[in-house]
Amino acid sequence: MKYLFGTDYYPEHWPRDRWAIDARMMREMGISIVRMAEFSWAKWEPAEGVFHFEDLDEAIEILAKEGIDCILGTPTAAPPAWIIQKNPEIQPVDSHGHRLHFGGRHHDCQSNLAYREHSRRFVTAFARHYADNPHVVGWQIDNELGNSHGDLCFCPSCEDRFRQWLKDKYGTIEQVNKAWGTAFWSQDYSDFSQITAPKDTVTGHNPSQQLDWKRFCSDLVLDFHRFQADILRKEAPNKFITHNMMGFSDKVDYFKLTEQLDFASQDQYPGGHFQPEHNGYRADEQAGALDLIRSAGHKPFWVMEQQSGITGWEILGRTPRPGQLGLWALQGIAHGADAIVFFRWRSCTMGTEQYWHGILPHHGVPGRYYQELKQFIADTGSILEQVQGSVPAKEAAILFSYDQEYAMAIQPHHPDLKYQSHVMRYYSALHRRNIPVEFVREEDDWSGWKLLIAPFQFLMSMSLADKMRAYVRQGGRLVLDFRCGVKDTHNIAIMTDNLPCYVSDLCGLKVVEYDCLRDTDGAVSWGNQNYPIEFWNDIIQTDTAMPLALYAREFYAGTPAITVNQYGEGSVYYIGTGMKPELADRMVQEWIDHCGIRPLLETPHGVEVTHRKKNGSTYIFVLNHNAEERVIEAPESWQPIDSKGKGTDIPAYGYRVYILTCGLYTDTDSKL
Ligand code: GAL
Ligand code: ZN
Repeated sequence: MKYLFGTDYYPEHWPRDRWAIDARMMREMGISIVRMAEFSWAKWEPAEGVFHFEDLDEAIEILAKEGIDCILGTPTAAPPAWIIQKNPEIQPVDSHGHRLHFGGRHHDCQSNLAYREHSRRFVTAFARHYADNPHVVGWQIDNELGNSHGDLCFCPSCEDRFRQWLKDKYGTIEQVNKAWGTAFWSQDYSDFSQITAPKDTVTGHNPSQQLDWKRFCSDLVLDFHRFQADILRKEAPNKFITHNMMGFSDKVDYFKLTEQLDFASQDQYPGGHFQPEHNGYRADEQAGALDLIRSAGHKPFWVMEQQSGITGWEILGRTPRPGQLGLWALQGIAHGADAIVFFRWRSCTMGTEQYWHGILPHHGVPGRYYQELKQFIADTGSILEQVQGSVPAKEAAILFSYDQEYAMAIQPHHPDLKYQSHVMRYYSALHRRNIPVEFVREEDDWSGWKLLIAPFQFLMSMSLADKMRAYVRQGGRLVLDFRCGVKDTHNIAIMTDNLPCYVSDLCGLKVVEYDCLRDTDGAVSWGNQNYPIEFWNDIIQTDTAMPLALYAREFYAGTPAITVNQYGEGSVYYIGTGMKPELADRMVQEWIDHCGIRPLLETPHGVEVTHRKKNGSTYIFVLNHNAEERVIEAPESWQPIDSKGKGTDIPAYGYRVYILTCGLYTDTDSKL
């Protein structure tokens, strides 16, 4: 792919006589692609059926003269005022039943038929207009689908659509009643027309209905995306389609969305003002989000929005420290990005995002952000070109499931238990040891992964249990943990088996009781050391499993908390408790010792190592996320390919890139 670096550009925000200057400055810093147009519907269609693409045509032409191509976003995340005036029912409704209004963005209901018609008309005209333009090379559909939709949309059109979705899934109302356990609190339905979206209720809502609603909402976004993708592919073939995703956001299943795309894209804001740690950032969280988006297609992706300055809407974050903008962009490449597009070219002088700074400041004269990124592009362009198309080797995998995430959100058990943080507890411990991780889903082929961690397998089916058994029988190492096999896929507790249902034999144990650690921490002993635990304790009776760690407190002190069971050629770990980081680190050491997963390199705290491989070569990225220099011990076989010489001292917020053609993590490594 010829594109390496790009920027998100909004020519409609700037005087026309500035466009050529912008294009020249972009070229000078090494930018070859821009994304445009994703919020400008009112400009291109000021009245129904009246299209004015002249300005956009001109901007595309000016950019093309500097050798810059573009991706156009369909602007359906911001329907214009005249559409809302004509069809106010397009505006979404929240779970309280309140309609939300014009003035922001994402003020649209994706099931609304009038809105679909407006979208169809615009997207068709847009696609036809640019079908033969060689400088429009790709599309992005809408923008961050699912964003702003946490509590949306519960309008009558969405309820109708939900009923249709249920009819397709269950066929009869009796089946719905059975699946949702409506015998409880007199919730039986005699007709589909009685079913509503799970709006606010006086007391808690039906967990089975809530789970189906979340699945439906994800499917609706997928349907809205497919609806536009079909138009674009028909009217303007030979251009790629991508979508800018938001890491661990759970509103739409990104694995399924990626099936509709040529490749996935990620929006990456490590120092975003919304991040929980204002004075720093969590490199592991950023890494996890990037790995998830790569895993969604199990192939390289793009970063479609990469932070390029201080961020904020009403409140601001910290300004990126010298070096961080490049380091953060390199982290994307290190985890599988084939192109980095910086958000945004110039800080906007108007609107909600005035303080979400771009490469250029408001006044447009290049400053530190521009200079740093220009240097970064000069330093890394040839590296990115070399690594394009490469992916990591198979080591550890984490089973990721939106269904399990929804189920935990509906019933977290412990108020502080969240699916993403729970998954990240495992991910971060592997990340601290520089062990590559891929996220896989239930329906994927698991063969080749040395270790498969399956956190919170709350919803269990016999077929999933069988697949796990087959994986382990053939030598796989599987990790299951607390609340495994509690419910069926309708979110109804399984009554025909012991916990963990359907996999109790595989784990070689029974969970006979459990304890939710409200307002108290716990501890386990492993060898002669104690480790802190949190959230939950399963009380376990072992059958064939061997205990590794024992509870150290409460009336069940001395009983197993973590076990391992040999099964077929492989083994199964069962973790009955929430591990704090120290215990997770101990657990990872166990897997390094017994499951064949290999750290790329042991490094000081805050130094991350990743790899990508293709054609017998392995590229190693070493990133120093610390505010001070760190020294690493790179093996002799690692040849530096960055422009910064041989050294193993890595400056604050600096990086090194190496290549190796034999040894660890290469094709010649017999273990792979
Ligand atoms: C992203 C979004 C962009 C812009 C940016 C800064 O989430 O895709 O359009 O809004 O955040 O707020
Ligand atoms: Zn709606």
